[in-house]
Amino acid sequence: MAVTLIDNVNVMSMDPCQTDNGIERQTQLWIQDDKILAVGSPPAPPPVPDHHIDGTNRWALPGFIDCHTHLVYGGSRADEFRQRLSGTSYQDIARAGGGIQKTVRDTRNAGAEELLQHSLRRGRRLIEEGVTTLEIKSGYGLDQQTELTMLEVAARLGSQLPVNVSRTYLGAHTLPPEFEDDADGYIDFVCHTMIPTIAAGKHATAVDVFCETVGFTRAQAERVFAAAQQAGLAIKLHAEQLSDSKGAVLAAQYQACSVDHIEYLAADDIPMLAKAGCVAVLLPGAFYYLRESKKPPVAALRQHQVPMAVASDHNPGTSPICSLLTCATMACLEFGLTCEEALLGITSHAAQALQLSNKGRLRAGMDADVCLWDIREPADLIYEINGFRPTCRWVGGQYVDG
Ligand code: NIG
Ligand code: FE
Repeated sequence: MAVTLIDNVNVMSMDPCQTDNGIERQTQLWIQDDKILAVGSPPAPPPVPDHHIDGTNRWALPGFIDCHTHLVYGGSRADEFRQRLSGTSYQDIARAGGGIQKTVRDTRNAGAEELLQHSLRRGRRLIEEGVTTLEIKSGYGLDQQTELTMLEVAARLGSQLPVNVSRTYLGAHTLPPEFEDDADGYIDFVCHTMIPTIAAGKHATAVDVFCETVGFTRAQAERVFAAAQQAGLAIKLHAEQLSDSKGAVLAAQYQACSVDHIEYLAADDIPMLAKAGCVAVLLPGAFYYLRESKKPPVAALRQHQVPMAVASDHNPGTSPICSLLTCATMACLEFGLTCEEALLGITSHAAQALQLSNKGRLRAGMDADVCLWDIREPADLIYEINGFRPTCRWVGGQYVDG
């Protein structure tokens, strides 16, 4: 058993049950093996620490959780970025066979090694800002083999980098060319072949759907949810990103763990999300890259106490951004979150969006995913873009320098 004591450190536990997000100054943080042993005094008699770290003038925060990414993919969409800069819309590019379809072609043509190398580069960028848990979706393969390859690459990323990876099957992202004009046939394949395979092989813990005019209908999303529920997989939804398709209502009916994007979410639908315990995941990177003007209904979400998470949505089309902290800053400037809400959004609320009840908070018994920062106060991390890196971290109790 290995015990580490970080002494004289400022802690922001991010426990929503504590006042002030659990700020305790000049206290102790104890780690035993892969868990937090104590914040403050250790249990009596105190263990003899194997490692003693001076935390003077430093802050300990939970490692950050990026709860929505599409990190594994082939190719680039820089050409479409140029087209969009000269006025073509995301939807028009998608209807002309570009967009997600273009990345599906590039991903199918890339081998696992190539996918891994590019994903490692992007993963390192996220991690260096303090991310210790990363959700990664499939959805650029669509056929069985490429979807499973994407999820396998996501798992390899988690074993090669100091990060926990949570995997989500997003087969219902767009219609693959093999099923052109047969969306229901493709949904049959997702429900009857893919979801049972994913569940049996433990390739993912959740299922996601892109419910949108350029994605899948609510009826199709419902079939996928029913199959996911039957297979014991968690449910998530890309909802109301470009229009109010009422996907969030359906997600709430199926007790989804999160609804993501939700710029077009109607205020009337928010009480249902609150009742279902569904997390609202805000994705300001996609809002920014799409030059959207419709903002998610943050004041109403706050009023109904729907937990709000913030994620990078890293993907090659609408959010090619490798910085969760920049997204947290954007959530404040663009959507009106406070610095504290943004920090909750990338810690405890993000953990809730992934149903990771042992992560996102510094409390006895939780996983020891901790970063130490040389900052005056935690708001510095949101206030200054690209200003800070953790001085050291523990991921599942394993010490990592930087
Ligand atoms: O989260 N909305 C659907 N999926 C991604 C975009 C994927 C893409 O354009 O490649 C998103 O924005
Ligand atoms: Fe997304």
